[in-house]
Amino acid sequence: MCGIVGYIGLPEKTAEHDALAVLMEGLRRLEYRGYDSAGVATLSEGAVQSRKKSGKLVNLEEEIAQQPMRSASIGIGHTRWATHGGPTDQNAHPHLGDEGRLAVIHNGIIENFAELKERLLRDGHSFDSETDTEVAAKLLGTMLPEAGGDLTEAMRLASNELEGAFTLLAVHSDHPDQVVASRRNSPLVVGLGEGENFLGSDVSGFIDFTREAVELEQDQVVTITAADVRIIGFDGTPAQGRRFRVDWDAAAAEKGGFDTFMEKEIHEQPKAVEDTLLGRTDAQGRLVLDELRISPAELNEVSKIIVLACGTAAYAGTVAKYAIEHWCRIPVEVELAHEFRYRDPIIDDTTLIVSISQSGETMDTLMAVRYAKEQGARTLSICNTNGSTIPRESDAVLYLHAGPEIAVASTKAFLAMIAASYLLGLYLAQLRGMKFQGEIEDILADLHKIPAKIQEILDASDQIKDLARQMKDEPSVLFLGRHVGYPVAMEGALKLKELAYIHAEGFAAGELKHGPIALIEEGQPVFVVVPSPRGRDSLHSKVVSNIQEVRARGARTISVAESDDEAVSSYSESVFRVPETQPLLMPLLTTVPLQIFACALASEKGYDVDQPRNLAKSVTVE
Ligand code: AGP
Repeated sequence: MCGIVGYIGLPEKTAEHDALAVLMEGLRRLEYRGYDSAGVATLSEGAVQSRKKSGKLVNLEEEIAQQPMRSASIGIGHTRWATHGGPTDQNAHPHLGDEGRLAVIHNGIIENFAELKERLLRDGHSFDSETDTEVAAKLLGTMLPEAGGDLTEAMRLASNELEGAFTLLAVHSDHPDQVVASRRNSPLVVGLGEGENFLGSDVSGFIDFTREAVELEQDQVVTITAADVRIIGFDGTPAQGRRFRVDWDAAAAEKGGFDTFMEKEIHEQPKAVEDTLLGRTDAQGRLVLDELRISPAELNEVSKIIVLACGTAAYAGTVAKYAIEHWCRIPVEVELAHEFRYRDPIIDDTTLIVSISQSGETMDTLMAVRYAKEQGARTLSICNTNGSTIPRESDAVLYLHAGPEIAVASTKAFLAMIAASYLLGLYLAQLRGMKFQGEIEDILADLHKIPAKIQEILDASDQIKDLARQMKDEPSVLFLGRHVGYPVAMEGALKLKELAYIHAEGFAAGELKHGPIALIEEGQPVFVVVPSPRGRDSLHSKVVSNIQEVRARGARTISVAESDDEAVSSYSESVFRVPETQPLLMPLLTTVPLQIFACALASEKGYDVDQPRNLAKSVTVE
């Protein structure tokens, strides 16, 4: 997620708070959000001054040193986490409109940017970048005449044309006394100073200057001057934000008030899934994965898919296997990347390699992708890091929009990988006519309901944390699942190993009687990921039988089951409830209690859940 700062101060404040210095300090505070380019714009002597560079803030600082900017008392600053368009100088923010008199920065994803861009191109506008932000800047500029030159009204009109998620900040050389901003489905807070006011994507952007803040609500436009703050709704009615005092220190502000990035990222999962789904359908509701860069004809030739990944990403790939095979009837193999290239795999030019990687830099996965390309396969990367090595070396990419994942153990990226894999499967089914449009729309409709359902689980997490406290001294925990619940069980075990350093093992529930059941003794904790009772009955009843089998041998069973599934209650010591959804979509919900459990238990043991021992966020060695 991008970092955003805005500033305006009385001219007499400039000696104490030069706008550029305030902006750069705010952007430094927002670096934790992860980014791959940065830029600033200030107003001085009736003109916009803008500097922007790919890479880290030091690159921007060098650019400014080489091309100094005049002193100013108003400006906007941005750190970009690339979504539409790679991390280049051209794609960095700010973007200009109204013939260079307007500078705009943006956080979010504008879902209808393609059709707006077509309209602006028809009207004679040209574009320097691939970004949705530049479209917003040009659109805002076209609204000024209709708004009678009023920047606030122009922002309100433009915001009503935009769909998706956006926080926009704008300054205009004709209005050197105001910064105007707008938000929908993306955060924005106001910082209140004396003779100066601030804007930030979160309080970190201005925490060094003020702790008095106002949180904006959905669909609001805010206009800040050095002396006041005015808020209106997108419908033009005056509005109030929520006033609060920031009592966090700067470090806590980076974690959004949570104690750890791990907890913050677990709670960011509704937005990570929502943002990954955003902007992937056209006005007719058809899936458009325009960044795929493999033609429909080539995709229709695919006879086999091989998923290459490691760790958590491999478990996401296993969920993808069940979904893609069911929807598309294409064989899908899931391979641990480090095993794949040494087993002389069968590959040809009708094989589609789908690599899944949060970092895009995992050496095992990268080397396997390179090997597969040498064998003639087409390669598609599902990745969370724009411009990283694996997507760069792949024929096509489907980016997650989970935002930077700081904690080493993956959580929100895992759910986003699964969501992106579902989109790929539905796109292939749409392309091959394996699903009617109505069927695809039904599944997409259920997918769009998932973020709110994840939030329900997060809101009811106290029961899970209580159990974690009770179980903190357990030496070993087993996890069982069937069908798409099997990779969830594997991921639940991995989270407990990674975070709490407890021996944990995931099994396919049907495998238990083929050996592992010998492990069951009195009091052995066993988590069971229970399929939907509305799915294929045999699966649900079979898993209930598995629960009975382990309980009969003294196991302590903890079930993760749908809210209306009463069958498991009498055989489970504890039941973590999740809202119901389609059986294939359940991993997006059943994973969450297992993440919360592992994080809470590790915290109870006093471990660093953000930087677990022996682990690296990106394993860049083979
Ligand atoms: C996830 O919790 C682990 N830290 C690890 O298994 C990770 O998923 C794996 O190393 C792959 O990383 P990637 O997604 O960046 O390729």
